[in-house]
Amino acid sequence: MRRQILGLLFSCLVCLNLSAIAQEKGGRPDQRWWQHAVFYEIYPRSFADSNNDGLGDIKGITSKLDYLHWLGVDAIWLTPMFPSPQVDFGYDVSDYENVDPHYGTLADMDQLIAEGKRRGIRVILDFVVNHTSDQHPWFIESRSSKTNPKRDWYIWRDGKSAGQPPNNWTSLFGGPAWRVDPATNQWYYHYFYPAQPDLNWRNPEVETAMFDVARWWYRRGVAGFRLDAVTNLFEDPELTDNPLVDHQTNAYGDPVQQPIHNLELPELHGVLQQLRKVSDEYDGVLIGETWTDTVDQLKRYYGEHGNELQLPIDFLFFAVGKISAPDFRKQIAVAESFEGQPVYVFSNHDEPRQYTKYGDGRHNDQIAKLLASLYLTLRGTPILYYGEEIGMENNDPKTKEDVQDPIGKLGWPKDKGRDGERTPMQWNAEVNAGFSQVKPWNPVDALYKQYNVEVERRDPNSILNYYRNLLSLRHTNPALLDGKYVALNEDDPNVLAYLRSYAGKRVLIVLNMSGSTQAVKLDLLSKGISAKSSKVLLASFKTPKRGNVNKIDLEPFGAYIAELE
Ligand code: NOJ
Repeated sequence: MRRQILGLLFSCLVCLNLSAIAQEKGGRPDQRWWQHAVFYEIYPRSFADSNNDGLGDIKGITSKLDYLHWLGVDAIWLTPMFPSPQVDFGYDVSDYENVDPHYGTLADMDQLIAEGKRRGIRVILDFVVNHTSDQHPWFIESRSSKTNPKRDWYIWRDGKSAGQPPNNWTSLFGGPAWRVDPATNQWYYHYFYPAQPDLNWRNPEVETAMFDVARWWYRRGVAGFRLDAVTNLFEDPELTDNPLVDHQTNAYGDPVQQPIHNLELPELHGVLQQLRKVSDEYDGVLIGETWTDTVDQLKRYYGEHGNELQLPIDFLFFAVGKISAPDFRKQIAVAESFEGQPVYVFSNHDEPRQYTKYGDGRHNDQIAKLLASLYLTLRGTPILYYGEEIGMENNDPKTKEDVQDPIGKLGWPKDKGRDGERTPMQWNAEVNAGFSQVKPWNPVDALYKQYNVEVERRDPNSILNYYRNLLSLRHTNPALLDGKYVALNEDDPNVLAYLRSYAGKRVLIVLNMSGSTQAVKLDLLSKGISAKSSKVLLASFKTPKRGNVNKIDLEPFGAYIAELE
């Protein structure tokens, strides 16, 4: 009801500013908008096809804003839709200040931003900061001669000896990270595909040009950026070889190495501090693709004075990889152990979907609700991946010939690439799941008739309605908005239990991470907490409206969210 009223308000008061809307949704007014926001990642190619060419597009996204508003999303992050040869489906940008004609026009983007604003949904773009396409005019100039003014915008070196790259660094996408260019017989560095040459961030002209790009989009109304491959910005200028890891080889047959000389160099933090200043001019938010091995590395991305990224993604949490109360408890404690807003994701366009990754084949729907109940009730920012709210599964290509992602072609069958997590959004049970009237670029998953928005909207027990109820609770309950995290029953091997508490409100979250029923007695007293009973706010299984804190009965993989009384 509250959401419907808000919806009416939004359509009447077109000019309301967004921070006023954020407060309307609840939460401490001194918090920044992104501290209460729920983000939703969209892979534009696969979301909604408005012109029936088999590829999703910007107009398609705009047509689904009402759905996203109904669901309870506050900001959408679009993976790159800039002009691109599409070698890496947009992560090879050939013009940062335009839109690829496959996805529409700048006018379409302006309309998406404006329509989003009307509904309180901000637009975040994917800023590919580490590299461009080899078709970007900057690189075309740079490769033209050793003396071209743009030569130093990229990383060019002589080979070690004839036909030998400058050092042993390998590309994440297979093979050496260097390619020799016949025009000058020098090698350029590419951490990803050869068609994605790395920019040289040691050159101040690169910094200026890229910051101008950020300003250009901020002025068009975007609310921030997700910074792609942000750990990669700098390399050791001496090009020291990386150490190898025990004779191991990866899916592409390359020796496994520790990328200590081309990832995580401390210089990158200086750039992030400067970019943050630019971003602050526009009240923007910076999300980081911060794959780190340690929590200390992760912490650094916030900046020693909170002056770098507001939202570096916690891939340590992401990497837990199995339904385990002790493992999640430990990772949450790590994220809670320092200042800064934790950022949680379970799936994205590079990794298998959570439905498949965590599903046991028997309780997949319960597990989908369980995981939602976990990261949507934690203190921090969740980033949903399109389709997880309806329980979309991974749909890997069946044969090598079907693969579209070049790393899948190279790594087959050990690495099938990323097509499986990028299948078309399932809107209804009709042709192509309502994504397009024509054959989509990537096949629709076989389960679309059962798992789609239209069917699940009608079913009160669907994964979709569970997400919606959970998001509504999260937006309106003061303890879920602003409460501190208190771990409970910390020795329980099967059940993850915690409180969020704020201003006298205490919300209890009890998650059964096992495949058997559990009866839980909460250790509230040892934490100095007293409660007579619990009033259920949301549960993924049938349970009495009021419960006894000395015995909470949970179904296998059941989630129980209640207010302590
Ligand atoms: C990370 C992106 O998420 C991935 O999709 C892309 O291939 C690489 N960065 C290169 O831009």
